[in-house]
Amino acid sequence: MKVKTQENGRGREVTIRQADLRDARPICALIKSNPLELIVRPLGDIVRNIDRFTVVYAGGRLVGCASYSVLPEAGNFSHASIEMTSVAIRKSWRGRGLGRKLVETMVERISQLRPVQIIVLTYTPDFFRKIGFERIAKQDIMYKIYSGCMNCTKHSNPFTCPEVAMAYTPKFDDGPDETQKGESK
Ligand SMILES: CC(C)(COP(=O)(O)OP(=O)(O)OC[C@H]1O[C@@H](n2cnc3c(N)ncnc32)[C@H](O)[C@@H]1OP(=O)(O)O)[C@@H](O)C(=O)NCCC(=O)NCCS
Repeated sequence: MKVKTQENGRGREVTIRQADLRDARPICALIKSNPLELIVRPLGDIVRNIDRFTVVYAGGRLVGCASYSVLPEAGNFSHASIEMTSVAIRKSWRGRGLGRKLVETMVERISQLRPVQIIVLTYTPDFFRKIGFERIAKQDIMYKIYSGCMNCTKHSNPFTCPEVAMAYTPKFDDGPDETQKGESK
């Protein structure tokens, strides 16, 4: 999943690829530099979940990252949603299309797991709307509210928290999934 592209604004080569353990520290620093928009994650948590991250490198430096988390639905486990998390582009590299490329790469990667939907909770809904996400009611993702928002240290009420819930529905062109038949029994 190594994508090389010429970044027009600066004429430097940009690489988007799956993260490895060497990326953990710079990922941790990048997330930490966006405390208002992102949930700060300890280095140990990033290391444990390093296989879930995608990174963007430009000029030999990490300039972007994103990760995901699987949200199971009790009783219908193959019907899970996946939340895209920790999406960030270094400030000096914003506005050049890298955030879009990163999220599109993540959508492609996450879609291979065949979730019913990919969700985000975000302060920048317009950015995600441009990539095909649509606003949804937080009441529609109660499994996220219980597994994540209940532990939030920033906002006491997930329904009045300013983060907007959005979803992208992946489309599969290989027909209905036979493995899901009868699962909820
Ligand atoms: C949100 C973020 C990832 C965008 O990265 P970026 O590289 O600047 O985004 P791009 O240049 O790829 O922008 C793609 C499109 O979204 C738009 N866009 C980018 N940031 C936006 C914002 N904050 N609000 C509205 N639109 C935005 C761009 O104008 C562009 O539109 P266009 O295709 O019509 O030209 C970056 O600003 C960031 O890291 N923010 C801090 C962390 C954060 O908020 N993460 C998301 C939390 S889930």
